[in-house]
Amino acid sequence: MTLARQHQIQVVAHRGASEDAPEHTLAAYKKAVEDGADALECDVRLTADGHLVCVHDRRVNRTSNGRGAVSALELADLAALDFGSWKKHHGEAEEDPDWASATGEDTGADTSVLTLERLLELVAESNASGRRVRLAIETKHPTRWAGQVEERLLLLLKRFGLDAPPPEGPSPVRVMSFSARSLHRVRAASPTLPTVYLMQFISPRHRDGRLPEGVRIAGPAMRILRSHPSYVAKLRRAGHQVHVWTVNEPEDVELCAELGVDAIITNRPKQVLSQLNQL
Ligand code: G3P
Ligand code: CA
Repeated sequence: MTLARQHQIQVVAHRGASEDAPEHTLAAYKKAVEDGADALECDVRLTADGHLVCVHDRRVNRTSNGRGAVSALELADLAALDFGSWKKHHGEAEEDPDWASATGEDTGADTSVLTLERLLELVAESNASGRRVRLAIETKHPTRWAGQVEERLLLLLKRFGLDAPPPEGPSPVRVMSFSARSLHRVRAASPTLPTVYLMQFISPRHRDGRLPEGVRIAGPAMRILRSHPSYVAKLRRAGHQVHVWTVNEPEDVELCAELGVDAIITNRPKQVLSQLNQL
């Protein structure tokens, strides 16, 4: 049961409900939707044959039973791998009686490689059933592909009618990146699609809270808020929304709420929602 909302902060499931289920799998995203997350975060990379898949690392070694760079593998190669069992072997959820349902162990499809297309279908299915779920898509290593990641991404979003906000309200999709150039490419192709500029630290050129031209949303790392809490007010004064990552600890959630951020990106959407409802 989803609790009535007592707060305005968007809770975004980072790589899905990735504390409970293997990151970037359908199982993790289904769990996040079930837990009541407002939005789903995913990283996208291009396969050797031009498909966008949801994988964080350059290589598949950490999160699957295979080896090699995503960019050197075709979708069929990735589809033969298991992206679920690594988490169990790391012991993170071995004691959890819900492990099988959280990981989709009994439905292998839920822990195979996830294409962005399938994730967009899940979002569409969830929204058709009355939920309002947004998607925050991060382009990984976009400079390497000279625009191909963004080109494929925009084509796919267009196919789902998600390359621009609907006339009646905000965009269900936003694109995030540490690369200002990648975000610029996205806006050049689709000027009204919201973009999020991710920051590991405050670079001198953004010290006053201003971001690369056209960017509406700031995506600072949680560590920035811990060391420079007043930066949130600067970003807001410059007209930006603030989406913070990756916020898993209760004291960090509390600080985010105190500072009035707009979105919290977390591996634990259920716990964060519950904490925010009690603040
Ligand atoms: O949501 C932004 C955050 O995901 C950026 O870091 O390494 O988890 O992709 P990373
Ligand atoms: Ca990410």
